[in-house]
Amino acid sequence: MTADTVAAKFRQVLGQYPTGVVVVTAQGTDGTPIGMTVGTFSSVSLDPPLVAFMPQKSSSSWASIRAAGDHFCANIIGEEQEDVCRQVATRKVDKLDGIRWRLSDHNTPIIEDTVAYIDCVIVAVHDAGDHEIVIGRVLDLDVVSQTNPLLFFRGGYGSFIPRSLAAGGADLYEQLRLVDLARPHMEWLAGTCDTEVTAISLVRDELVLTAAAGRAQTAQAPTRVGQRVPFMPPLGGVFAAWGDDSLRETWLGRLGPDATPEQIDAQRGAPDRIRACGYSIALGHTRGERLESLSTRVNLKEPGVSAEALKTVIREVTGGYNAEDVSDTEQHELRSLSAPVFGPDGRVVLTLTLWGPPGTIPKTRIDELAQLLIGTAAAATTAVGGAVPRARFAAAAL
Ligand SMILES: Cc1cc2nc3c(=O)[nH]c(=O)nc-3n(C[C@H](O)[C@H](O)[C@H](O)COP(=O)(O)O)c2cc1C
Repeated sequence: MTADTVAAKFRQVLGQYPTGVVVVTAQGTDGTPIGMTVGTFSSVSLDPPLVAFMPQKSSSSWASIRAAGDHFCANIIGEEQEDVCRQVATRKVDKLDGIRWRLSDHNTPIIEDTVAYIDCVIVAVHDAGDHEIVIGRVLDLDVVSQTNPLLFFRGGYGSFIPRSLAAGGADLYEQLRLVDLARPHMEWLAGTCDTEVTAISLVRDELVLTAAAGRAQTAQAPTRVGQRVPFMPPLGGVFAAWGDDSLRETWLGRLGPDATPEQIDAQRGAPDRIRACGYSIALGHTRGERLESLSTRVNLKEPGVSAEALKTVIREVTGGYNAEDVSDTEQHELRSLSAPVFGPDGRVVLTLTLWGPPGTIPKTRIDELAQLLIGTAAAATTAVGGAVPRARFAAAAL
């Protein structure tokens, strides 16, 4: 084999092995942060705690990290931070420009919203062909968020899917069993209100529409079943409302760094409002339709529509969800109402969503529909063997 063939074969074969993605950071001598994207980060030793990464000898980023001193921070990049990985890997200067970070106790940049960070001091640099093996002793480390890590494999980026989901959806299996028990109640409500009622499950970090009953009057696709949207405000507020503090924080955090202060403020109080009245409410057909048609296209994997664009539109509809006041005197475009179905441990296992009619209705009719929905969700709770928690309507903090 020629040297070129060996190199091509080497890349092809080694590309079959997936890696995580780490951004190694250091504070430059002039105070500017330095970053370098690596796939070669590894845990090495527990006692003493050592980690390693392998920079190319010719890398200018590695040269700057080396020149800056003997400290570095390994930031484990999350599945939603592909842009961070790409920016740091391609830029020559101002690598962390626009990326949120803070300085660690050891004067290294810790990037925000990652999976975890490991702050280190370099204890050895070994020669290894055209690379070096840098050994760092761990000074401090922590998990930043429960998000999945970004993975690199066969030249592309992706994220981790547990075998159970890939092999037929074990998580969904349990959800579908619950939905089947709730279904007669959904059908009753759909018939009584002459509308569509859907069941939505929280599966990992996505809301999955697992069943529908009744007549869809406002749907943007032949069926809403199977639709998946990210679990982020304002969607899935019912799960956040009865969830623990960590679920609420995760949910709110998914608004992401692009959210405006108004969007964050509007949604911070939403879980308590939902819990106080027992249901979540979305108003406005036009913005709801826009969101739904984009989500349909993303779910169909149409070219030219990205998951990021969907998140932007989701952020834009926050104003229509769980507003502090829904006027008693005006007419409203009721998009949807959602109420919780509880499992045996008092956690929300499903939400039932009643879709409003086209056009507008008065607040009194919204109240009637909400009471019917809450009653139906309570009946579905009994059907799935669940229990409505005693502090059903109380705010979480009380
Ligand atoms: C997913 C991924 C993993 C990488 N892993 C490494 C690595 O382990 N070691 C390395 O030297 N460069 C690695 N690179 C390349 C560097 O991030 C960077 O592009 C390269 O160092 C650029 O050269 P510079 O440092 O001279 O700017 C990786 C790039 C990507 C996108």
